[in-house]
Amino acid sequence: MDHPILFVDDNPVILKTIEVAFANEPHPLLTATGGEAALALVQSHHPHVIVSDLRMEGMDGLTLLHHARQLDPHFIGMIFTAYLDLDSVMQAVSDDAVWRYIAKPWQDSRELVMAVHNAIELFEARAARHHAEEQLARAERLAALGHLVTGIAHQFNNINVGIMGYTQMALADPQLTPETRDHLEHVQVFAKRASEIVKDLSAFSDQSQLWGFARADLTRLTGEVLDRFGKSLAEAGVHLHRELRSTPPVEVNGGLVKQLLANFITNALHATEGRPERTIRIESGSDGGRVFVRVVDNGCGIPAKYLGRIFDPFYTTKGPQAPVGSPQAALPGVGLGLSLCQTIARNHNGEITVTSEEGKGSAFTFWLPTAEPCGPEAKAATRHTPISLTGHGDERR
Ligand SMILES: Nc1ncnc2c1ncn2[C@@H]1O[C@H](COP(=O)(O)OP(=O)(O)OP(=O)(O)O)[C@@H](O)[C@H]1O
Ligand SMILES: [Mg+2]
Repeated sequence: MDHPILFVDDNPVILKTIEVAFANEPHPLLTATGGEAALALVQSHHPHVIVSDLRMEGMDGLTLLHHARQLDPHFIGMIFTAYLDLDSVMQAVSDDAVWRYIAKPWQDSRELVMAVHNAIELFEARAARHHAEEQLARAERLAALGHLVTGIAHQFNNINVGIMGYTQMALADPQLTPETRDHLEHVQVFAKRASEIVKDLSAFSDQSQLWGFARADLTRLTGEVLDRFGKSLAEAGVHLHRELRSTPPVEVNGGLVKQLLANFITNALHATEGRPERTIRIESGSDGGRVFVRVVDNGCGIPAKYLGRIFDPFYTTKGPQAPVGSPQAALPGVGLGLSLCQTIARNHNGEITVTSEEGKGSAFTFWLPTAEPCGPEAKAATRHTPISLTGHGDERR
């Protein structure tokens, strides 16, 4: 995907150096020498990253980013500035128009390129999160609609059975006048039409289950995710142990649950990076009326003092956050995986529990209630909690 980047500086020489530094980058580069021209480019090209000088003739960089935010809420904003302006910029970083600042003059333009790469990564992660949020909302709406339709179809069918039965009995009377017989035969035709509509409604509610919540087998879903990861885990030298047991049915959105498991497995894969012996164990089963799937790794583990933060959006120990030269420093991570998992778990009336020991490894368990018994009434009674996408990192579950 292309990520247009906009640089704004009133010094054309600086813009020229930037163009040279980004000459080999695959993303379209836009430049402007002032705020007005930059805003026109925001409107026409919707850049994903905007980097602006702080002090410029006319509109300053912070004002520009605020105006640009009105035109397009999604871009990642950065400011470059001399150390002298640091105080005002540090204040600005706490408001959401500015993500970070870059000190000027830079010693090495690779620093700037790296900062833009990080901004693009963040943009992509936010876009993925937004997409998942929409998927969740759609799943929830469709599930609610599916339950409603199933309920109506069931009631309507009962009424229709009565209409058809009594019409048939009335038609059996040999004393009927030809006119009444004709009327009753019309009632029969309309009742048949009504039962066809009920059939269509039921077909719709089945369809809605495809996109909403449907009965599924957690062990089977886990197997499907492992099939997808098997090759890359083997190539990374990870020993994969499967301890999958058969589990009672659960009611889930299969796509989202697979996404949750994929996040757990990716984290486990990352955690074991650099270990002499890399092992990931996947368990599934049921316990106390709930079904679970657990991903256990022998990776770096999580220090107890950080356990409460891992579900925070944007909490990550990977990439630039990791100690220089450590295995985690080379890994991509923006810190959204677990926050999304938490949202998915809650939306399924489930929960995630974590145990971890620093230097030894971690175990992440996803728990789900077993599905209600089948039948239209039972289905109509199934409820999912409303979707909430706030951070839940303060709670260790
Ligand atoms: N299995 C694990 N072992 C050790 N630490 C983990 C494990 N899973 C998560 N963590 C810690 O929790 C942090 C947050 O995880 P999360 O999945 O939310 O983000 P990320 O993996 O850093 O980035 P992203 O998932 O957005 O690419 C990780 O950076 C890491 O410090
Ligand atoms: Mg992750």
